[in-house]
Amino acid sequence: RTKPKTLIVIFGATGDLAKRKLFPSIYHLYNKGRLSENFAVVGVARREWTDETLRDTVYQSIKGEIDPNVGDLKDFCKHFFYLPFDVTSKSSYDSLNTILNKLDNDFDIPGNRIFYMAMAPEFFGTIASNLKSEGLTNTKGWSRLVIEKPFGHDYPSANQLNEEIREAFDEDQIYRIDHYLGKEMVQNIEVIRFANAIFEPLWNNRYISNIQITSCETLGVEDRGGYYETSGALRDMVQNHMLQMVSLIAMDPPIRLTPDEIRSEKIKVLRALRPMEPIELDNYFIRGQYGPGEMNGKSVIGYREEEKVDPNSGTETFVAGKLLIDNHRWAGVPFYIRTGKRMSLKSTKIVIQFKELPMNLYFDQQQSTHPNLLIIHIQPDEGITLLLNGKKVGPTGETTPVQLDYSNNSVDSINTPEAYERLLYDCMLGDTTNFAHWDELNLSWNFIDVISNYWEKNHPGDFPNYKAGTMGPKASEELLKKDGFHWWSLF
Ligand code: BG6
Repeated sequence: RTKPKTLIVIFGATGDLAKRKLFPSIYHLYNKGRLSENFAVVGVARREWTDETLRDTVYQSIKGEIDPNVGDLKDFCKHFFYLPFDVTSKSSYDSLNTILNKLDNDFDIPGNRIFYMAMAPEFFGTIASNLKSEGLTNTKGWSRLVIEKPFGHDYPSANQLNEEIREAFDEDQIYRIDHYLGKEMVQNIEVIRFANAIFEPLWNNRYISNIQITSCETLGVEDRGGYYETSGALRDMVQNHMLQMVSLIAMDPPIRLTPDEIRSEKIKVLRALRPMEPIELDNYFIRGQYGPGEMNGKSVIGYREEEKVDPNSGTETFVAGKLLIDNHRWAGVPFYIRTGKRMSLKSTKIVIQFKELPMNLYFDQQQSTHPNLLIIHIQPDEGITLLLNGKKVGPTGETTPVQLDYSNNSVDSINTPEAYERLLYDCMLGDTTNFAHWDELNLSWNFIDVISNYWEKNHPGDFPNYKAGTMGPKASEELLKKDGFHWWSLF
């Protein structure tokens, strides 16, 4: 296995993401022997921390997961350094460069640098351009920029941010994180589709009646009310994670498994999405906001009562939508998506519902046959379910649904690498497959902007319209009902 030699600079190292995701991911990579000893991490942020404060934070963030068989954790922490930083001051970049050059030398790193933006997005552009102008990207090795969401707020702001960072970095040096692309079963979609002779021939409008993608959460907005008020579920989940899953499910087989070929197929799906027209938007997209309710027997407050949330807020915490993909493969097949906070369970699943047979011999029976379903369980279970029809045991000849289940959990749950760990490793290896390309963002924002503009102009009269702890507003059920479908319960 390749063991990349690399320096990682984390902008926003005192923040939550670094603590919850980045430090543990780096530790796991180290622990599994994917990182050589030739690596160093420099945390930068405004606060006046020292190397010791950072190392202590790193230690705290991973101490729950320490593998007793792996050497002294203190050795691991010695790869971490800290620099108080002002993103607008040239002298900060000079000091950083001096440290990076020294660490290249001390750890024998050939000038490979990952700049990880894990902080407020308003500074991404400034940082990127200073990294270049102050010579931090000018090394013998490679430089890569990792960018966390949100990547813009709408198309114009995303485009502006993109232009700023593109002045300093080429597209193939930019790794835009969509952590859904790091999930085991999201990565498995391509394998299920393209490595099985039994699915691909049926994967089209002749055999599939509709596709349902659900990503529901039980959490509310927690302490992110300020951010969420400017975002809402549409920007927070649909523009990125949901549309990424749609494109992986709907894309044509790429001619090769290279990042460029895969991306070019995904982009075609986004290009084929039927644009929303404001006049008929209500028939395609509906929104919801949670009110007070009950979760696990405890009462919880509504969205409008959350901290930093406007008591009359029109921000949606739930979205359901019907997408149409106007190409030969999918013409006429609705893709339903739904996502929301404070729903009855935490679950991400994709249900592919197949059409009925042209002539159903068993239709007259008391119990008609069940449509064939393929369910891809993304989380918390990871696996696949296939729903078939079989004969009920006994003399009657009645049919009964038969459920074939494959679950990853029993096999690999302890070692299932977290999304961030994979993505960080991919970035070290220079593999851009599971990152969002600008072309994808461009198309997805343009699609989403029509919906958000319409919603902004038309304040919802009926918010809150679903109780915390339920599966969203009634309109979400009606969206499918008028097409003769219903949401499959999440098996
Ligand atoms: C993030 C959103 O991108 O995804 C959060 O900002 C959301 O609001 C989260 O909770 C969901 O991720 P996961 O991996 O828990 O499904």
